[in-house]
Amino acid sequence: MSEIMYQKIVVERFGAGHVLRPVTASLPQPPPGHARLRVLAAGVGFTDLMARSGDYLLQRTVPFTPGYELTAEVVDFTPGGLQPSWLRAGVRVAAALTKMAAYTEYLTLPLWQLVPLPGGLDPHVAAAIPLDHLTAMSLLETHGRLQSGDSVLIHGAGGGVGQAVSRLGALRGLRMYGTASAPGSAELLARHGVTLIDYRREDFETVLRQREPDGIQAVFDHIGGANLRKGYRVLAPGGVLVSYAFSGRPGRMAGDTVRGAVRIQLMNLRPRRRTALSMVPREIRADHDWYHSALTRILGLAQRGEITPRIAGTYPLLRAADAHTALERREITGKVVLTTQ
Ligand SMILES: NC(=O)c1ccc[n+]([C@@H]2O[C@H](COP(=O)([O-])OP(=O)(O)OC[C@H]3O[C@@H](n4cnc5c(N)ncnc54)[C@H](OP(=O)(O)O)[C@@H]3O)[C@@H](O)[C@H]2O)c1
Repeated sequence: MSEIMYQKIVVERFGAGHVLRPVTASLPQPPPGHARLRVLAAGVGFTDLMARSGDYLLQRTVPFTPGYELTAEVVDFTPGGLQPSWLRAGVRVAAALTKMAAYTEYLTLPLWQLVPLPGGLDPHVAAAIPLDHLTAMSLLETHGRLQSGDSVLIHGAGGGVGQAVSRLGALRGLRMYGTASAPGSAELLARHGVTLIDYRREDFETVLRQREPDGIQAVFDHIGGANLRKGYRVLAPGGVLVSYAFSGRPGRMAGDTVRGAVRIQLMNLRPRRRTALSMVPREIRADHDWYHSALTRILGLAQRGEITPRIAGTYPLLRAADAHTALERREITGKVVLTTQ
């Protein structure tokens, strides 16, 4: 097949949901070691909303197409490099991207980035899995190094990443506390055995000092600011504070990420406790084997029903603007998927 004409969503200037506009583009033959994909569905995460409004450190320029995760069908590919034995036209795959581009009908990706979609797994559910669950793997395994029975605090436990950490944490036998405030949080967190701390009414440090006087093994933080100091203080000796975003001050997140990352590194110079920074797009780029095996394991868990991600809403790709607006107005909470079908 020669050139493919298709539509993708492009942000040409930073702003509110309406800046997400469909644009027609063409896709040439793939270069060696790459495949052309027909996208089935793309996941929408909070990071996409930050990027669209110009508040995301890893996406500081326009134009760009948002979205870090997708499921797709292989259209064709050009051999080159390591070629997986399962690869052929028509096979279904999932991928997490190292650079945003998933809100599209078609795209070209390197072969190493394609992970086969297990049979029977709905591509719309699977599209919501890669980024949040790879982040959860990075927090729990790469940086947390946690064992069954360890106690952890998950900030934003009702959110996309927080729910993924809770799902995988429950499978690992962790004792989990989670901060959340949205209505229905207690029931949501209880599904994975997470004890709710309502951060609008309770101080998490006070609660944990009472409940876990010897300290806990890990804190997963996406807020930054004063949370970091308090999170560090509730750690047991040998414990770790893992930071994966600095989203406490909307509109200032890009700058706060730079300052927060430096602070985390400085805190790690202190003895007896660790701090770490998780940035999954960079971790994928740095270690293709980790990416491939972690995403394969996660998709396997989903296929066997051991994790069951919840989809709060499905929108046609070309209505991505409506999906962002509904999330921002909190008309829907949870994971949203854009479909091309
Ligand atoms: N490092 C990485 O590679 C990576 C990967 C994916 C995402 N991220 C980042 O991680 C962050 C979370 O992403 P997400 O997709 O999970 O977002 P999300 O689904 O919007 O969830 C965020 C949660 O944060 C909670 N929250 C808000 N203020 C809080 C506070 N002061 N204390 C505790 N919790 C608070 C909210 O809980 P309530 O509604 O219950 O109040 C919400 O459920 C974003 O900044 C995103 O960019 C980083």
